[in-house]
Amino acid sequence: MSDLLIRGRVLTFVSEPQGIDDGDSYRFYEDGAVLVRNGKIAGVGSYGDVARQAGQGVRIADHRPHLVMPGLIDTHLHFPQTQAIASYGAQLLEWLNTYIFVEEQKFELSEHAAFIAGRFMDELISNGTTSAVAYCSVHPESVDAFFTAAEERNMLMIGGKVLMDRNAPEALRDTPQRGYDETKRLIASWHGRGRAHYAISPRFAITSTPEQMEMSRALVAEHPDCYVQTHLSENRDEIAFATSLYPQARDYTDIYARYSLLGRKTLLGHCIHLSDGELSVLADTGAVGVFCPTSNLFLGSGLFDRDRFDKLGARHSVATDVGAGTSFSMLETMGEAYKVLHLQGQRLSPLNSFYMMTLGNARALELEHRIGSLHIGADADIVVLDSRAKSAMELRMQVASSLAEELFILQTMGDDRCVAEVYVAGCAMKRRRETVGAHQANELEMS
Ligand code: GUN
Ligand code: FE
Repeated sequence: MSDLLIRGRVLTFVSEPQGIDDGDSYRFYEDGAVLVRNGKIAGVGSYGDVARQAGQGVRIADHRPHLVMPGLIDTHLHFPQTQAIASYGAQLLEWLNTYIFVEEQKFELSEHAAFIAGRFMDELISNGTTSAVAYCSVHPESVDAFFTAAEERNMLMIGGKVLMDRNAPEALRDTPQRGYDETKRLIASWHGRGRAHYAISPRFAITSTPEQMEMSRALVAEHPDCYVQTHLSENRDEIAFATSLYPQARDYTDIYARYSLLGRKTLLGHCIHLSDGELSVLADTGAVGVFCPTSNLFLGSGLFDRDRFDKLGARHSVATDVGAGTSFSMLETMGEAYKVLHLQGQRLSPLNSFYMMTLGNARALELEHRIGSLHIGADADIVVLDSRAKSAMELRMQVASSLAEELFILQTMGDDRCVAEVYVAGCAMKRRRETVGAHQANELEMS
């Protein structure tokens, strides 16, 4: 496949912005370009320099005046909940029982799982998200459907079967041994195949017996290169129920700590009502608290306290948490993150938002060498953002005077309409223009 030169206003982060206008935290080329070769980035810089490096005959995708950025990353969502977004009226435990544990039973059927998995990946792409960390249902077939759909699109995806053996309908329960065996088999099938990574996924303490938590400990010990994902301290009734089921544990965090589930590859959804002591355990173990603003507002769960994470040195990332989250869009998610922090007197600068969706989330996954920034050798996962995609945005942009202001407009007013194009490993996926190489175009046609 021949090289591709993607031209536009190139923006990529190199470090976490310290303050509203930290010019050292990013690289920006007003007339810039990214050179893509064999699905990887081979050059980044001003258009003149990169075009010279590319030489004659290179294909050019000219996206001026749009922004060219690393593909967005979502660190927590549920693919079987794609059709359960916008389920009315309930907080967490009632919402799970009324809607989610009904919806997830449909994934026993492979055809349904395959249909939703395909639509789920296309929705991610449509919103500019090129990598995500997802829960599948308890059914191993749902994991096969998830990774098959990701592989067909060549997306770097992380996921796993939820382990749950109590406090759920019979049809959604495994057993400690079955959960262990199925997870082992799925790791053998998928982890490290192409761009797939496996996440060992005990859903949360409420739906796993101590025996299943023991099995989870064994899985993590046997597969230290897999991720671990679960939910922690999202809702007050959930905390009371979880801690009542594990009376020996000091607090909710200690339940997971006792089963050796906390480490640098552990992603803990929500973490809203943690004590300083619990946050210090996160800091000590390197586990990541995942901020899911649209979900936390939708379920009335509470407000994520980012400043306390920073003060105590705990890592965090950001995510949609579809289907408690109300949008697949990371732009809309950061718009809501801004408001959640604002309610607590905390600021989220636009530079910081765009850092979090890209390099920040990649660092939380320890994948910053592959994704989350535009650097030579990285995978060519790229999003093209149009800051004038809606008429109200175009009008607002007429008086914008800085890059930071433009980013703030994008996250406050933007959504999937602002995603002009998405490249996955160098392949145009949203518009499927002529820039798609013949080989990959064939693959796409077959999928
Ligand atoms: N806690 C356990 N399962 C879930 C889930 O599916 N969504 C959310 N938001 N919280 C959970
Ligand atoms: Fe969740």
